[in-house]
Amino acid sequence: MDQQPAATSQVLVLHGPNLNLLGTREPEVYGHQTLAGINQALTELAAARQAALHIRQSNHEGVLIDTLHEMRGQVQGLLINPGAFTHYSYALRDAIAATGLPAVEVHLSNIYAREPFRQHSVLAPVCVGQISGFGWRSYILGLNALLDIIQNS
Ligand code: DQA
Repeated sequence: MDQQPAATSQVLVLHGPNLNLLGTREPEVYGHQTLAGINQALTELAAARQAALHIRQSNHEGVLIDTLHEMRGQVQGLLINPGAFTHYSYALRDAIAATGLPAVEVHLSNIYAREPFRQHSVLAPVCVGQISGFGWRSYILGLNALLDIIQNS
């Protein structure tokens, strides 16, 4: 029998507020890697794993929500670093839940080792899981986990 080529998995990657400043933003907390560098590493991983990424960054809650609405029928999973929205955006939480997509929440810093207000995620309950504290590698770990879920389901 002929082997069918593996279908390409479509993944939405969302970066929330202030992540456009990575590289210069509090490098002692978030590292020296830029957002462009992270996106490049993710794109290379995706290519090696038969996946295509749709990558967006916004500093605006409504734009992130609109993007989720727009992309929900076009992707099979969501990788998200919600930035500070992690800690208080019920609107973003509802939007993730509304997509019905498997979502992986990632953070560069270990949010549980930081200020009390960062130690709670209102989004985590609507995500499959969360990866926090591995710097830019959190994204790599998160994408691998998400693709394991999407491609084995
Ligand atoms: C962050 C952690 C958040 O508390 C913070 O507001 C961010 C970045 C992280 O990746 O470590 O903007 O999501």
